[in-house]
Amino acid sequence: MAEIAKPAHGSGGDHDGETRRDFLILAAGAMTVVGGAAAVWPLIDALNPAADVLALASIEVDVSPVEVGQAITVTWRGKPVFIRHRTAEEIEEARAVPMEDLIDPATDESRVVEAPWLVMVGICTHLGCVPLGQKPSEPKGEYGGWFCPCHGSHYDTSGRIRKGPAPLNLVVPEYAFDDETTITIG
Ligand code: FES
Repeated sequence: MAEIAKPAHGSGGDHDGETRRDFLILAAGAMTVVGGAAAVWPLIDALNPAADVLALASIEVDVSPVEVGQAITVTWRGKPVFIRHRTAEEIEEARAVPMEDLIDPATDESRVVEAPWLVMVGICTHLGCVPLGQKPSEPKGEYGGWFCPCHGSHYDTSGRIRKGPAPLNLVVPEYAFDDETTITIG
């Protein structure tokens, strides 16, 4: 940089030479910063499609092996999703609850696409623990659905919060049946 900084004509003397050198050095410095930013941007931009793809990702689940009364947990966008094949009693119980008994009122009908299949994000709406109740050996809480042992939240057979500190029902993700036993989540 010292070589570029030599004054092109002599009339300015040492003082002008210094000033010009300062300017050239500053200009070169500014170019470097701009060049650096321009080089980083394509890299960030190249990462964006991956983020978009992630956000849109959907999964297909074959639920044919899941018998009545059984449940499976699948992972979707990094979260556990509970799929329970409900019994007739569980459906009946969920539908018989008066709305005024609910902390976060929602009909069972509004939470399912097909009555026997309950599909929900398995994350407690209190502080994000994964509730128990998917396996036969796990406690299902006082309402026969799921129990979050972290602070004692009880969910019913529609995944609605019935007791404890959780403020909201377990979230129902967007999903659709491709056929009788194939569900696409997301
Ligand atoms: Fe579930 Fe607190 S995180 S009750």
